[in-house]
Amino acid sequence: MRSVRIRCPAKLNLFLEVLGRRPDGYHELSTVMAPVELFDTLTVREAKGFVLEVDGPPLPGTNTVEKAYRAVAKRRKIPGVRARLVKGIPAGSGMGGGSSDAAAMIEALDELFDLGLDRHEVAAEIGSDVNFFLERGPALCTGRGEKVAPIASGPELHAVIYWPGFSLSTAAVYSRVREFLTRTPRIVIDFLNSFGREGPEKLRRVLFNRLEDAAFALHPELAALRARMEELLPYGARMTGSGSALYGLCASRAEAGRLAGRVRGEFAGFVAPARVVTREVAWRSRKSASS
Ligand code: C5P
Repeated sequence: MRSVRIRCPAKLNLFLEVLGRRPDGYHELSTVMAPVELFDTLTVREAKGFVLEVDGPPLPGTNTVEKAYRAVAKRRKIPGVRARLVKGIPAGSGMGGGSSDAAAMIEALDELFDLGLDRHEVAAEIGSDVNFFLERGPALCTGRGEKVAPIASGPELHAVIYWPGFSLSTAAVYSRVREFLTRTPRIVIDFLNSFGREGPEKLRRVLFNRLEDAAFALHPELAALRARMEELLPYGARMTGSGSALYGLCASRAEAGRLAGRVRGEFAGFVAPARVVTREVAWRSRKSASS
C-alpha cells in the first residue's frame, strides 16, 4: 500500500503589522513569513477510518491534521487513513507547526488519492497560516494571512529559536492588540527592500511584530526574556507570530550553533539553531513507497 511522508517546516514572522479588525472578527494583516528548517514529519497511508498517532507531547486544541482530513473528505469521497505525526516543532509557539501539518495533510491526501484538489481553497478553511505552508519559501501574506505572495530574498540567513515552554492563545493575543495599534500602520516596503539584499545586521532595523506588545501584556515575563535575548544575540531578538517563541537572526550555520549554545547556557526550555529558507526550495522531500 502506498504511503506518503512529508516534512512540515516551522515558520518565523519577520515582519507582522496588524492593519485593523475586520467585520468577521479576524484582523487584516501584512506579514512576511519565512520557513525554517525545523520540522514535524507526517506519514500518511490508506487504512480503515481515521487514525492519528502523535509522537511527542499531546497536542493542544483541535488537531489540525484531523481537521484537514475532514475538510478534504467533505469535498471528495476518500478512503480512511492512518497518519503518524512526529513533532519537532513546539506546539503553541507561534511557529506554525499545526498549520504546517495541516498543509502537509492536504498535500498527502491529494497525492495519495490523486484528487486534483484546489489545495489553497481547502487550506483557507483550516486556518489563516495554512496557505503559506503550501508554498516553498518566504512570502508576503495579507488578508487574514491566507493570501500568499512569494518574495525574493538576499543573503543566507540562520536563526536561533527559543521557546520558553508555555503557550499563548492566538485568539487571546489578538484580542489585546487593539490597545497597541497606531494611527499610521508600519508599511512593509522597507522590510521587503532590506530582505531582498541585506544580511541580519541591517535586517535588524526592519524586523517587526505588532503582536509583541499584546503578548507581553498577557505574559510580562516574555518581555524580560526577549530583552535578555537581545543582550545575548548580535542582531536583536523578536517574537514570532502570536508567540511565545522568540528568535534572533544570524549569518551562518556555525554562528547559529554557537549562539544557540549561549542561549541554552542561560535559559531553560527549547533552544534550536535553524536555517531560514530564503528562497523557494524543495525541502519537502516526499517519499512514496509500496509496502
Ligand atoms: O486562523 P486561525 O485559526 O489560525 O486563527 C486563530 C485565532 O486568531 C482566530 O480565531 C482569531 O481570533 C485570531 N486571528 C485574528 N486575525 C488573523 C488571524 C488570526 O484575529 N488574521
